[in-house]
Amino acid sequence: MISPEVISACEEFVRQELAGDYTGHDYFHIQRVRKVAAKLAAEEGADPLVVDLAALLHDVRDYKFSGSEEAGPLAAREFLLSQGVDLQTSESVADIISKVSFKGAQVDDYPLAIEGQCVRDADRVDALGAIGIARAFAFGGHNQQPLHDPSLEPVFHESSEAYRQKVCSTVNHFYEKLLLLEERIETRSGRSLAKRRTQLMRDYLSAFYREWNGEDF
Ligand code: ADP
Ligand code: NI
Repeated sequence: MISPEVISACEEFVRQELAGDYTGHDYFHIQRVRKVAAKLAAEEGADPLVVDLAALLHDVRDYKFSGSEEAGPLAAREFLLSQGVDLQTSESVADIISKVSFKGAQVDDYPLAIEGQCVRDADRVDALGAIGIARAFAFGGHNQQPLHDPSLEPVFHESSEAYRQKVCSTVNHFYEKLLLLEERIETRSGRSLAKRRTQLMRDYLSAFYREWNGEDF
């Protein structure tokens, strides 16, 4: 049994860790992911507690902030153990966190049990649609990327190293990752959400090019 106090402590820890984020990985992102993950978990019969803890902790000290693949899962595990959460739950949560990230167009996702699938799908769905577009351009600005550069071709990365080192325009990030996520969603409701949100992004990109080319007079 995990007490409501542990969940509150976890919320406070995550809130502090992500404070001052302007890359689209703020605490509101965590709240959205938690909410979608909980719905998916209920539909899929996944353990709601493991799903909630992994959704809460999934971006803490992530590679993009820490430069380390291990720091996030390790921090989550240590935090949960410090709160008296049992070893098995702490390790399940850390394992999910280590397998959530997209690593490149030609790099397969890690297999995950249903709890991890719910968290990964919820995180990915938040990278799509209207919110996903906003987050991509916020991230791009933070990363000093151009909005769009017609001379740059999208790259379908073959390794996580190549993906991590990528230099891209934000428009190309849609082709290199965002439009590819729908195919990788595993839960049923996650898929239908992803389908709608991906269509919205396709429509957005069509409008973007019409405006870019002055074809919308
Ligand atoms: P993951 O959860 O798969 O590790 P990230 O946390 O790195 O993914 O990225 C999630 C969010 O950050 C998405 O909304 C995505 O659009 C945005 N993002 C990541 N890299 C870039 C980039 N190079 N350009 C624009 N947006 C990016
Ligand atoms: Ni996330």
